[in-house]
Parts: sequence; structure tokens; C-alpha cells
Amino acid sequence: MPCINLGSDLKMALDPVMWAIYELHFEPDPWQADVLRSQSPRILLNCSRQSGKSTITSILALHTAIFSPGSLVLLLSPTLRQSGELFRNVLRFYSQIDSPVPSEVESVLKLELSNGSRIISLPGKEQNVRGYAGVSLLIVDEAARVPDDLYYSIRPMLAVSHGRLVALSTPWGKRGWWYQSWTSEDPWERYEISASMCPRISKQFLQEEHRALGEWWYTQEYECKFMETEDQLFSSDLIDKMLDPDVSPLFEELEVNSDEGQKVTDLLDEDIRTLEV
Ligand SMILES: Nc1ncnc2c1ncn2[C@@H]1O[C@H](COP(=O)(O)OP(=O)(O)OP(=O)(O)O)[C@@H](O)[C@H]1O
Ligand SMILES: [Mg+2]
Repeated sequence: MPCINLGSDLKMALDPVMWAIYELHFEPDPWQADVLRSQSPRILLNCSRQSGKSTITSILALHTAIFSPGSLVLLLSPTLRQSGELFRNVLRFYSQIDSPVPSEVESVLKLELSNGSRIISLPGKEQNVRGYAGVSLLIVDEAARVPDDLYYSIRPMLAVSHGRLVALSTPWGKRGWWYQSWTSEDPWERYEISASMCPRISKQFLQEEHRALGEWWYTQEYECKFMETEDQLFSSDLIDKMLDPDVSPLFEELEVNSDEGQKVTDLLDEDIRTLEV
């Protein structure tokens, strides 16, 4: 039977940073402490490789499960192996707690506590993740690699429960929901932590990585900047300008019915043939 100390339990419930330090013997970096203490329902962690984003969200998952009885925490990644990695962090921290809320089920995919809370590691397949309701916290790791259709199919799980969503990744080209969310006007709480801000990553290591990876990868993996997608024919800036409402469309005066539409297509085809010659 775990020993209950109401005063200290309340403090730990209200301050996850104090809980991480005293209970898990984990000293968060300043930005990690901010993430733990944040009340925001929507958080994006655009953080360098190895900066500690998976670690801090696994602590957040555990804190939620322990101090919000009956909560459902889902961990999602592009593959089950990656969700499993995050989940192993959760189990590692859980095993460090002196008198934890006891577990009822502890498997490689799921931790169920006697207070009714569950933490579940999900595979990255749309058909397998539907069906969960009342989600308190949804953590999406390696978010840039989570396909749009999967992301859009999981969001409704938060609707009724007003659950929180925390997505973490490095950039991976200017594409997909991760890039759109980062650059949108939507009220996400955003964290950008480059490798140079992480006390555990040396300058020397970064120089070596820069040489090994080249500009495109290095800038995204360690500097958190979104680069043009490698196979992109036109730059994103150029495409944005094409969509600029202040620029009149080429065929504004033309009322296109199907005959005229065909004529335009024929003319364009002719132009292309001329160019090919
Ligand atoms: N505040 C901290 N103090 C000490 N070590 C930490 C801290 N935060 C993270 N670490 C350690 O840094 C390493 C990287 O952490 P983590 O796997 O969470 O990073 P990540 O940002 O998810 O990396 P990746 O992008 O490669 O998945 C781990 O060994 C972790 O234990
Ligand atoms: Mg990680």
C-alpha cells in the first residue's frame, strides 16, 4: 500500500518539475521545465535531435496518468517501434518512483494504474488507432513523419474530453501538417530549441555532424529550420506568390465554359510542344 502524504502529493501534483526532481531524480533543462509546467492544450516542440523532447514528454505522460486519475494518455509515432521507445522511457521513470500508484497491467504497449489511468503506445496505422475516446493527453513523437491522414484521424479523439495535444519533432521539409502547424496562425504554444541551446551537445560534435550530414539535413536536424523539400520543383516562396490575392489571375476576363476550357488546354499544349521542339 503506497504511503499517502496529502501535502506533499498536492505539491507534486501541482508542480511536475518538483516531482521530476524529487521523485524521478531528473533535472529538467529550463525549456523542459516550461513544457512540464505549461497548461496549454496545444504544444509544438520543434527541438533539435537529442535535446530531450521525448524524455520530457514521457515524464509529462507519467505525471498526467498518476495525478489525474482515470486519464487516458496516448503515445503515437509513425511506427510502433518508435512509440515503443517513448513508452520505454515512461516505464523507466515509473520504475524509479518510490511508492508509485500501483500498476494493474504493465506490458510492452500499455501501463494501467490502479487509479484508472492508462498510458497506451499506438502503432502508426490509421485503422489501428481509431476508437479511443476521452483522451486526456495525446503525444505525437517524430511528428514530421506522421502522415497527414493519420494526424487528421486522431485529432477528433480530443474533442469531447478537451484533451491536450503535444507534438514533437525536427523539421522535415516544408510539407505536411507539422510544417503547416508550425507556420500557421493557430494558437499553438511553440518551443524551438536548437542543438546549441542544449548543454549536453558539444560544438565539436555539431561541427562533425555538419560535415557528415551536409547543409540540408544539418539545418533541420540541429537548427530546427524548415528547408525546401528536396524533390520540390518550385520553391515554397514562389508557390506562395502564385497564390497571392493581390496578383490578378492570367485569364481573369475569360469566362470559361467547357469549350473555352478545352481551347485554353489546347493552346497550352501547343506552347508545350513548341517548347519541346
Ligand atoms: N534534462 C536532462 N538532463 C540529463 N539528460 C537528459 C535531459 N534531457 C534529456 N536527456 C538525455 O538526453 C538524451 C536524448 O534525449 P531524448 O531521447 O529525449 O532526445 P530527443 O530530442 O527525443 O532525441 P531524438 O530527436 O534523437 O529522438 C537521452 O539520453 C536523455 O536521457
Ligand atoms: Mg526522441
